[in-house]
Amino acid sequence: MNKILGLSEGFHDAGATLIQNSKILSATHAERISRVKNDRWLHHSQIAEADTTAFYEKDWLKRTRQIYARQPYAKPRIKTDVSFYHHQSHAAAGFYTSKFDECNILVVDAIGEWDTISIWKAWVEKGPLGKKRPHMKKIKSFKYPYSIGLFYSAITKYIGLKPMEDEYITMGMAGYGDPTDSLLMENILKNVNCHKGLPDLPELRHISKENMAASAQSVIERELTKLVLNHCPSRNLVMMGGVALNCVANSKIAGLGKNIWIMPNPGDCGSSLGAAALAYGKKLKWIDPYLGTDIKNDIKIKEVVKHLIDHSYCGIANGRSEFGPRALGNRSLIADPRRDIKDTINQVKRRQRFRPFGPAILEEYADEYFKGPMNEYMQFVAKAKHDYKSVTHVDGTSRVQIVKPDCKSVIRPILEEWYEKTGCPMLLNTSLNIKGQPMVDTWEDALAFQKEYNVKVF
Ligand SMILES: [Fe+2]
Repeated sequence: MNKILGLSEGFHDAGATLIQNSKILSATHAERISRVKNDRWLHHSQIAEADTTAFYEKDWLKRTRQIYARQPYAKPRIKTDVSFYHHQSHAAAGFYTSKFDECNILVVDAIGEWDTISIWKAWVEKGPLGKKRPHMKKIKSFKYPYSIGLFYSAITKYIGLKPMEDEYITMGMAGYGDPTDSLLMENILKNVNCHKGLPDLPELRHISKENMAASAQSVIERELTKLVLNHCPSRNLVMMGGVALNCVANSKIAGLGKNIWIMPNPGDCGSSLGAAALAYGKKLKWIDPYLGTDIKNDIKIKEVVKHLIDHSYCGIANGRSEFGPRALGNRSLIADPRRDIKDTINQVKRRQRFRPFGPAILEEYADEYFKGPMNEYMQFVAKAKHDYKSVTHVDGTSRVQIVKPDCKSVIRPILEEWYEKTGCPMLLNTSLNIKGQPMVDTWEDALAFQKEYNVKVF
């Protein structure tokens, strides 16, 4: 059988990944099943039968930091055969799914056990009979309380958003401000323990939310750039940890001329995959992130496109759900980007009005409409070369999902048909959920969504 189950739980966004040899059989988020946003505990249905179980961090070591930091202790409920270090699991989730034979790995998150940033050198050693063995060696680390992730979460909290959840909104807000106070922010990052939020400094009170977000964003971009320039000589770079979801910072690093791989679920949930990979000891076959609950329904592409032409938007719930926070066409809300639709979709999703949306575009036309880094997983921002405002952020950029001809998601045939009917090769694409709720997972969830929010779901 040779099945290995990797697990992560106890902090936020618990996850489980089941592999068999180099194949990823399934990878799931607890929240999508329990319907509790960022559920920290695994759902019993995720505990599949396996020969080996692996945990994503060292509980005893985390405990020492929690005692030091006077934090409450949440003992994992699950017992596993083996466990790995928190940043080691992050690093492996990236490297073991990458195509690189040699690279650096940059892990930046809020906090694991003690490490908050770690940098690795990684390579594949070819053994006898052509067997390949991946190796990772930690070459540099920064420890609690210095933490880019905790700092960014503290900023998120200070501007009235939810820390450990709304950081991407802070990043979006940064586009509306100027980095007027980046020196002060740098000082806070370097000298203040941000674990419980920002200190109550009088000089913080006069800064607008937008400028604070912009200042914090510029500081983390600068720090990440420094880490890459000083410690990551390889042209190949794997980035992991929750901070690797910051697509604006990712684009700055791509601008340094690096080939970048970020496994689409770089946070702690994705580390369940890292733990499974480490227990297996060889690289995995990465195909795509459609690894969750399967919805098999007879979707009629022409009907979907007709609905889009007549009503501007609809939901799609088809195939296996995405592993990672981005909906990439299997649990998506899609809309006609040519129309002034941003406010409508934000209203449907109960989101703040300023929030931008990203487009999904046929790969063949991506360069015609965007300039800059982009890939299949919405991990970078590119400059828009068109004037579809609903998929363009205030700074003129978009978080683009490129849809290749071999993409297994139903979004590909929908885009093809949409292009044929309208001459427009892209659709607005956002996750099929309401703000603060987990993404639709099953067909029952999809029907409930359709009924409650009056959005046709195909
Ligand atoms: Fe982490």
